[in-house]
Amino acid sequence: MAAAVGLLRSGTPGMAGANTASGQRCALILLVCLALLSPLLQAGPDEQRQRQLDNLLLQDCGSCHGLRMTGGLGPALTRQALADKPRDSLIATVAHGRPGTAMPGWNALLDEQDIAWLVDRLLQGYPRP
Ligand code: HEC
Repeated sequence: MAAAVGLLRSGTPGMAGANTASGQRCALILLVCLALLSPLLQAGPDEQRQRQLDNLLLQDCGSCHGLRMTGGLGPALTRQALADKPRDSLIATVAHGRPGTAMPGWNALLDEQDIAWLVDRLLQGYPRP
């Protein structure tokens, strides 16, 4: 048994060389893929998604927070109203909602980047800065 394992491990010198080369090629391909993907992962929602999110802001968020985010069932989400609120806590509120209030959590529908984009949109001043 030990001998068989030894044989498998050592292989022939030629084979070992080939394995290392293809291993390096794999690692290289993986690195290139990661390098190509990373800007995409950090860029946030693409243009089409941004349009969908804008719609959501108006239709869904607007139904409680007002079409101009000046408040309704939910509080105002204007730039002034949010000025002194930490971005992270706003993101958490949109993701998880506020239990015991009408504010629902959106993390089943929206990913982190979507939510961060929405919050930034509000912080910049929605519908217009
Ligand atoms: C069904 C009604 C409803 C909908 C729909 C809704 N909200 Fe709310 N939202 C509320 C209420 C009510 C509160 C206040 C909760 C409280 O009393 O703490 C709130 C609070 C918030 C807050 C915290 C505001 C603050 O002053 O701390 C943010 C941010 C927010 N909502 C964003 C959104 C966004 C973005 C959407 C759409 C994706 C949305 N809400 C959709 C009802 C709603």
